[in-house]
Amino acid sequence: MAAEQNSIHGLWRNRWLFILAATGSAVGLGNIWKFPYITGENGGGAFVLVYLFCICLIGLPVMLAEVMLGRMGRQSPINTMTAIAKDAGANRLWSGIGWMGAVAGFLILSFYSVIAGWALAYIFRMAGGMFEGASAEVASTTFGNLVGNPEVLLAWHTIFMVITIAVVARGVNQGLEKAIRILMPMLFVLLFLLLGYALSSDGFSQGFSFLFSFDFSKLTGESIVVALGHAFFTLSLGLGAIMAYGAYMPSDVSIGKTVVLVGILDTLVALAAGLAIFPIVFANGMEPGAGPGLLFQTLPIAFGQMPAGTLFGTLFFVLITFAAWSSSISLAEPIVAWAVESKGMSRAHAATWVGVAAWVLGIGTVLSFNLWSDYKVFDKTLFDLLDFLTTNILLPLGGLFIALFVGWVMHKSDVAAEVRMSNPTLYKAWMIVLKFIAPVAVAVVLINGLL
Ligand code: PHE
Repeated sequence: MAAEQNSIHGLWRNRWLFILAATGSAVGLGNIWKFPYITGENGGGAFVLVYLFCICLIGLPVMLAEVMLGRMGRQSPINTMTAIAKDAGANRLWSGIGWMGAVAGFLILSFYSVIAGWALAYIFRMAGGMFEGASAEVASTTFGNLVGNPEVLLAWHTIFMVITIAVVARGVNQGLEKAIRILMPMLFVLLFLLLGYALSSDGFSQGFSFLFSFDFSKLTGESIVVALGHAFFTLSLGLGAIMAYGAYMPSDVSIGKTVVLVGILDTLVALAAGLAIFPIVFANGMEPGAGPGLLFQTLPIAFGQMPAGTLFGTLFFVLITFAAWSSSISLAEPIVAWAVESKGMSRAHAATWVGVAAWVLGIGTVLSFNLWSDYKVFDKTLFDLLDFLTTNILLPLGGLFIALFVGWVMHKSDVAAEVRMSNPTLYKAWMIVLKFIAPVAVAVVLINGLL
């Protein structure tokens, strides 16, 4: 049966490399760029609380299920879901989880690359000393000039897509494993440095209470949908990215402990990013709800005023780019692995096709920040629409189906044999979450928030 197979794509060499790879996938633009701006748009503390709740109660249990499925199937998520559904004697429709995820990953990759392109562009703006002593106004204008220029955005989007595809084409083990081993710790160090700066700034207490004082009157149905969707997005859940990585996980590793560690690291980075950014927002009289440009309009001010800020600022945007890079390869991996397994393509060939297609779709996102910014459906630009559809609808639905599949459809003995949890109470609690809590919560949030 599927469980005895080995992945044709290779294995992580040990537990730590899986942790690094999974953390590399989880920690990305979602933590550093997106978490602060959606928190700003959704009123702060109460939103953060709902988000943390979603991570613990739904995100981690679903992540455990996804990694378990991946390691059991040892193939791309599409083929893993097909094989496991067959073994369980279940309807073939369950393999739709793999398909829906591959599509969601592809759509996210298309806009993820555009935003990562902003970070790439900022490396050079920082290094050129553009922000030395810059005011909030200079920072905002610089950002406006970048996103207002479709040719420039397209160029950075292209470069980022090329480097993503270059890594996926080589296989995940080769270059990236080595790179993230150095870069992820550096990202942590720099975030803490920024945190130190924010701590000493005038806006710290205001920023802190914005993040952690809970004013529930600001919560709307839609902001709960956004918090839930972001819990999935930030942990790379619901689309098979973590399932694909689980397929390359050595058999003797404890899935439970690993998953909790990845969840903690991911959450710490998001909170640190929020704590670094909001004090700067308030100290400079900026708007917390500034939207997707928030990070790019605040941090340059801080770097511009700090000693050796040009150096640290440049490094910081290099590291954001790396964090985004190690995430974007995991967005492409499920669909590329499937094409290699089922279409007989070489990795390079499959990766190129996926990359070209996502690049073309990404042009829509590029234009939605300038030439097409006035075309709106449901009051959303094309970028907003793609983001909302994937993050807030497809990922939670993917998570919902995964929970139902593991909780209700699979043979319990197969599940228990693969996760090997030593604590029976924890195992029971996990099952209750998968069977009842996660599906009901996701369904209620989606139905309420969308209608
Ligand atoms: N988790 C990544 C981030 O926070 C984004 C991502 C989502 C990556 C889904 C893979 C799958 O930036």
